Amino acid sequence: MESPALSPQADDYCFHCGQCVSACPTGALSSSDIDIKDCKEIADDLKITAEQALQFVRSRRSIRNFTKEKIDQKTMYELIRNASYAPTGGNFQGVKWIVIDDQEKIKRISDMIKGFLEEMVKLPGNEVLLPANSIGSSDDYVFWDAPAVVIAYCDNPIDYRIALTYLDLCAHGMGLGVCWAGYFNFALRADHPGLKEAAGIPADCENYYPAMVGHPDERVKYYRMPPRKEPKIRFI
Ligand SMILES: Cc1cc2nc3c(=O)[nH]c(=O)nc-3n(C[C@H](O)[C@H](O)[C@H](O)COP(=O)(O)O)c2cc1C
Repeated sequence: MESPALSPQADDYCFHCGQCVSACPTGALSSSDIDIKDCKEIADDLKITAEQALQFVRSRRSIRNFTKEKIDQKTMYELIRNASYAPTGGNFQGVKWIVIDDQEKIKRISDMIKGFLEEMVKLPGNEVLLPANSIGSSDDYVFWDAPAVVIAYCDNPIDYRIALTYLDLCAHGMGLGVCWAGYFNFALRADHPGLKEAAGIPADCENYYPAMVGHPDERVKYYRMPPRKEPKIRFI
């Protein structure tokens, strides 16, 4: 018997998101560019309870204490591969990644940003807040001595943010640590000379966000989940 397949007209409108293949109970359907053999089955014994899922989401923290251990490229690939399961508009999957894992380069970028920030805070009406006692110190308060900085970027103005959020959550699941790099982003948006180029972000790209990634220093343990503000909701 012939395997079920999309009609050619339906294929013209298809996002290739894999919805049909994943919902086919018998595993008989392949779409024009998704082979059923590439679709790992959802294992019942790996499903987590609602309680486990909630603890996972609520216990994620921004990590600012890293070990000196580098993240090998295979692990970094795995992390980004997992983050690639983030939803994208029209299933476009256009998010690209830059990984900076050269310590000298990270230090050079951090020093550029620190120089910029420490000039900014002197300006009247400035609203930049730096960590206590940071001005003039050798502390890396930009990247917290992380062994890697990752930048997500794409044409779509939303997708890279969702992808980086997935990266943050996937890192939590893989025992890695992430912290979004707001100071870096701030200096990039202010067009600090040479920074975008040093970061490898294409000159015409405006849709990007950086984060630092590393192995969390186990000496800093988290025992509880602090509360968050009550959500403001209007049901209409
Ligand atoms: C867009 C964004 C930018 C951030 N920038 C920085 C930063 O530059 N440095 C830093 O230490 N933390 C930064 N953070 C982490 C926040 O301070 C942190 O998410 C917040 O305090 C809540 O803590 P939690 O992430 O551990 O739940 C950033 C977070 C976001 C979402």
